[in-house]
Amino acid sequence: MFRASVFTLYPDFFPGPLGQSLSGDALQRGLWSLTTHNIRDHGLGRHKAVDDTPAGGGVGMVIRADVLAASLDEHLTAQDKRPRLLMSPRGKPLTQARVRELASGEGVAIICGRFEGVDERVIEARGLEEVSIGDYVLSGGELAAMVLLDACVRLIPGVMGKLESGHDESFESDLLEYPHYTRPRDFEGRTIPDVLLSGDHAKIAKWRHEQSLALTKARRPDLLKK
Ligand code: ADE
Repeated sequence: MFRASVFTLYPDFFPGPLGQSLSGDALQRGLWSLTTHNIRDHGLGRHKAVDDTPAGGGVGMVIRADVLAASLDEHLTAQDKRPRLLMSPRGKPLTQARVRELASGEGVAIICGRFEGVDERVIEARGLEEVSIGDYVLSGGELAAMVLLDACVRLIPGVMGKLESGHDESFESDLLEYPHYTRPRDFEGRTIPDVLLSGDHAKIAKWRHEQSLALTKARRPDLLKK
């Protein structure tokens, strides 16, 4: 079973949206598991401090290496070979290929950053792999962790019905998906392209591929260069 262990200062964020819809049903059906660990349980002193001022000066606070390491060491054994992902805008961008790889494995341990960052030494010492979900900055790694988990969980065998688990999806072929239409045939004077109503499946497939190519060229030329 795909097991997700999430290390966070905000365990109440979870399961959040992951408890609903496709991933929530799959969670209830036991197709994957989600455990949260509060990093603050290993905080120091009366205030359970988890962060401190950055060495060298500067704004913000940094999560302490000793505190995060203690939390990880309590819950992750040496035999646990799941990738340890640190959600961070500094990370390697998440791709559908990496999601597929993660989804086919035993699961993931995810560390959610907050504050300005995490002491570099715990990243090295505990083999954390920094992962970004895009070139923008969130206030913490929790939402990024949910994005990553949602993307993985839908690929776990049995989570999606055969019909929904389409291979035509955006990115599965490095092309964006073609436009979709359904009833009514006329929406505010806009009609469905004739070819889709022609019943000619070869012609429809060709049209969809052309649409995919044109859309990708216009919006994501970087994908075509690959
Ligand atoms: N934490 C803050 N911003 C992030 C991002 N873009 N990706 C992953 N984790 C983050």
